[in-house]
Amino acid sequence: MFNFEHRFESLTPTSPWLTAAREATRVATPATEPRTAPQHLAETVHGRVVVVTGGATGLGRATALEFAQRGVAVAINYVDLPDRDVAAQALLTETAIRALGVPVYCARCDVRNHAEVEKFVTTVRERLGGVHYLVNNAGVAHDGALWRLSPEAWQEVLDTNVTGAFNCIQAVAGSMRAQRYGKIVNVASHQAFRPGFGIANYAASKAALIGLTRSAAVDLGPSNVNVNAVAPGFVKTDLLSKLPREVLERAEHESVLGRVAEPEDVARVIVFLCSEEARHVTGQVIVVDGGLTLGS
Ligand SMILES: NC(=O)c1ccc[n+]([C@@H]2O[C@H](COP(=O)([O-])OP(=O)(O)OC[C@H]3O[C@@H](n4cnc5c(N)ncnc54)[C@H](O)[C@@H]3O)[C@@H](O)[C@H]2O)c1
Repeated sequence: MFNFEHRFESLTPTSPWLTAAREATRVATPATEPRTAPQHLAETVHGRVVVVTGGATGLGRATALEFAQRGVAVAINYVDLPDRDVAAQALLTETAIRALGVPVYCARCDVRNHAEVEKFVTTVRERLGGVHYLVNNAGVAHDGALWRLSPEAWQEVLDTNVTGAFNCIQAVAGSMRAQRYGKIVNVASHQAFRPGFGIANYAASKAALIGLTRSAAVDLGPSNVNVNAVAPGFVKTDLLSKLPREVLERAEHESVLGRVAEPEDVARVIVFLCSEEARHVTGQVIVVDGGLTLGS
């Protein structure tokens, strides 16, 4: 059943933010035009609009806040998850973003549902004036030994982590192509390259997401849209708290830097990939794992 709910800071069609966001699209620098002087990263993203899927919690929330701190209007979506009050977390995140002085739009929207995603993105454009960046962060894991993995656990992880990202890319592709500007960052995982035991569905989904990243980069590159992925190692979020303590301790031990990432460690790389500093980077996977995968 269609399940779409939204809360937002209302913006009139003549709001200065809408005008600025539309202007930001018009003045986008073509990839071929040389720059005369370097700009600060924050200046190159200021005034634009980002969609962060799964932005209520964890890495998505950190990413949304990093963008908001740099003057980017933020749209986040989420779904409820078993044993977690995601709606309450969404409200907290929305409030924190608003406190940073940028427009925010927050809605329950399931990325697996093509029609819901289309409607969400249309509303973001109406409320915030456009979409310049998309961060496909929404993701789930349902671990289990391969021989015990239920068809439902397989399907839900693939539907969310891969089809969900595809739905979102497709929803923004038309307007990004029309405005000849856009940045898309997909949140993959180090486990796409280095799977542990019992994560066949998750590892397959993140490897597929990397394939989708490269393919989308080829299709959208001629329209001046960059598509990249980050592959975090372990990140301190609720998702990680489900793992046994010894897995976390081993990750800290095996990481060259001797620590597990804070969400901000990954979020700042995502912001960088959306900045003009990274305008010549596309189709790449940036591993953000403190050196965890170096030894393997
Ligand atoms: N935490 C880690 O160690 C780690 C490591 C590598 C990659 N990642 C990836 O980072 C991303 C964020 O994970 P996190 O650790 O912040 O976990 P999290 O569970 O806190 O965040 C996931 C978010 O995705 C949202 N979501 C789930 N299914 C959705 C759907 N169908 N539609 C819309 N939203 C949906 C949830 O509401 C939730 O807010 C995921 O893609 C995850 O695979 C996490």
